[in-house]
Amino acid sequence: MTSDSGVAHPLSRSLRDWQHHLRERLRVVSDQPEQEARWLLAAALGLDATALLRNALLPIPGDQGEQIVALLDQRLAGVPLAYCLGEWSFYGLDLRVSPEVLIPRPDTETLVTLALEGLAEEGAVRVLDLGAGSGAIALAIALARPQAEVWGVEHSPAALRVARANGALLASRVHWLEGDWYAPLDGALRFDRIVANPPYLADDDPHLPDLHHEPRDALVAGPRGLECLERIIAGAYERLSTSGMLLLEHGPDQGAAVRRLLGNAGLCAVRTRCDLAGRERVSSGTRI
Ligand SMILES: C[S@@+](CC[C@H](N)C(=O)[O-])C[C@H]1O[C@@H](n2cnc3c(N)ncnc32)[C@H](O)[C@@H]1O
Repeated sequence: MTSDSGVAHPLSRSLRDWQHHLRERLRVVSDQPEQEARWLLAAALGLDATALLRNALLPIPGDQGEQIVALLDQRLAGVPLAYCLGEWSFYGLDLRVSPEVLIPRPDTETLVTLALEGLAEEGAVRVLDLGAGSGAIALAIALARPQAEVWGVEHSPAALRVARANGALLASRVHWLEGDWYAPLDGALRFDRIVANPPYLADDDPHLPDLHHEPRDALVAGPRGLECLERIIAGAYERLSTSGMLLLEHGPDQGAAVRRLLGNAGLCAVRTRCDLAGRERVSSGTRI
């Protein structure tokens, strides 16, 4: 069945018809419409990419067509692709994501890489991820260092449920704790790495309108943007092991302020690394 416009009627579309339809509709919101069409179809139908190719002529029943349209409508309304798909890739891991968690960013992979540098592959090292969100950082480190004991702290119960679900899917043994930064931790614990990608935007940051699908609590620190970084840095010294290191992701214009805070908190070897565009994004300091 074909409509006047030459497009197959929704009720008689094959997988390939749907793929073409989605690709054309997605052009307005995406610079990779072909790829997004495939991802959305795979998510709506529960198929992988190979199955999509193999079954191009498969007729799609009406109820599945409705699921495809529902996902397409969300995407056309500006919902980030990660939330439409319900999963996103980070550091080679497929993570579940929902609007309760920040979508893990490629920039944050730099934080993981730096945290793993010099972190022993054998032996009992301890790592703490503050503001775990989807669990991206804690899980990437736990899976790269199977001998490490990893803690993930998160104050949002809904986000923590996502982190726990990701931990279960990836069969990782991260200790997930709910609460405010260091508060839920056993006071005797000392960590070889403390890592965090905390909220660091000021509450009037001009980028916020573009980020309105993501949880505001995951993005905004307070009037100055530095409030969460300050609290994490203030509590780090007494939580680090003797040779432990604190590593923080921050905004590109916060490097100088974060270095000053790290120095004032008694941390040594304070330094900042830049991203590929030369913007200051991760600062660190060690206890000795
Ligand atoms: C920028 S998101 C980072 C999420 C994840 N680590 C990532 O990199 O994708 C910051 C996270 O910190 C959490 N958070 C904010 N305030 C917190 C607090 N006082 N204690 C613990 N977690 C907090 C937010 O809920 C959010 O999940």
